[in-house]
Amino acid sequence: SKIHFDFPAAGRFFAGSLAGKWQGDVQRAHDGLHRGTGQGQDFLGWLEPLSPDSEEVAQIEQTADRIRQQADVLLVIGIGGSYSGARAGIELLTPSHFKPFRKRKTNAPHVYFLGHNLSASYIVQILSNLDDQEVAVNVISKSGTTIEPALAFRIVRDWLIKRYGAKEAAMRIVATTDQFKGALLRFAEVEGYRTLVIPAHVGGRYSVLTAVGLLPMCVAGLDIRELLRGAQDASVRYATPDVTQNHCYQYAVWRNELYRQGRVIELLAAYEPAFAGFAEWWKQLFGESEGKNGKGIFPASVQFSTDLHSLGQYVQEGPRHLFETVLWVEDTGCEVLVPAVDGDLDGLNYLAGKGLTFVNEKAWLGTIEAHESGAVPNLLLQIGKLDERHVGHLFYFFEKACALSGYLLGVNPFDQPGVEAYKQNMFKLLGKPGRSE
Ligand code: PA5
Repeated sequence: SKIHFDFPAAGRFFAGSLAGKWQGDVQRAHDGLHRGTGQGQDFLGWLEPLSPDSEEVAQIEQTADRIRQQADVLLVIGIGGSYSGARAGIELLTPSHFKPFRKRKTNAPHVYFLGHNLSASYIVQILSNLDDQEVAVNVISKSGTTIEPALAFRIVRDWLIKRYGAKEAAMRIVATTDQFKGALLRFAEVEGYRTLVIPAHVGGRYSVLTAVGLLPMCVAGLDIRELLRGAQDASVRYATPDVTQNHCYQYAVWRNELYRQGRVIELLAAYEPAFAGFAEWWKQLFGESEGKNGKGIFPASVQFSTDLHSLGQYVQEGPRHLFETVLWVEDTGCEVLVPAVDGDLDGLNYLAGKGLTFVNEKAWLGTIEAHESGAVPNLLLQIGKLDERHVGHLFYFFEKACALSGYLLGVNPFDQPGVEAYKQNMFKLLGKPGRSE
């Protein structure tokens, strides 16, 4: 897989050798990850991607096959790291703009995500549109106690039992959870659901390439072995502590360098709308990993050229506290030519016969130049093409960059103590029994 990190003009935001300045810190952070001596060392399982030929992958594929035979629709219930990776992969690699229900057994089931909000209308709208669809459910929760997916699961399970009866409903549910503990595991054991394991040493937001993300992506028709091969490519490629050789570490270093210069917001900018879900995954990964102890870059995202007609104004001329990380796909595998118009009524005949990708590319290059001249540093990630191998590589690239970047920042990139505060208030308001005041 071909993925290339570069900083075409961002170099002018730093005088001297970036590698020279950061190599010592990078070596320490690298050792923290690879020797397990850093903070959160119990959550480093993602560093070594699953082998595509493992028994576990075969089991995920078998489970996916069963779901594909059973169902036209898969309801995936989860929140945070237990949903955003699968959504990212599916949106990137299956056409996301038009999704008719599949014709039974010919196409992959349509995947809907639930349990990542508490909206009654969201769940009602989905369930009320499934009348003539066969349905299966994958409920995903590592802790098994997260309230959003747990409530959604109660509601969906109830609905499923009413439709299929308890016995058949149980055969249509797969629970992805901890191997040894948690309410969801108990639930699955009592009701006899098929289960898949979230490894104890992989935290939610680093779990896309475990059963958490792999099962829904496999059901949706993605080649999960290729995803894992892409991650393996990346794990080999980014194994060196040498900053001058390691693009993943260069990205982590640039983020920290720019942050120290007051660039507290990072905009992930993509020129393909299919990246919308990926950007959400990336925001969760970096936001939850780094935003703590009063520190951290705020991860935000834009879709270009769409947002050049909205946030583009702010980027060009607003406060200079942001930088951009631009994702560019070199070969989208798709082209459409601009037709000629008699009389050139809209004045665009100078583009007649050119591909839309050609125009998108000029928008990309022109925007980088404009934003750089507006004093917004641009980092650039060029992705050869959008297939499973590249996307697996990309997931791993950002996971490792995030972990290293967190260590460079001096935080534990694997915990999330801050997400407890809202829960405590909500439980108090809900009158949860057994709470200590
Ligand atoms: O990254 C994380 O750990 C979190 O975002 C979790 O994935 C999220 O809170 C869901 O947790 P669980 O899988 O336990 O329901």
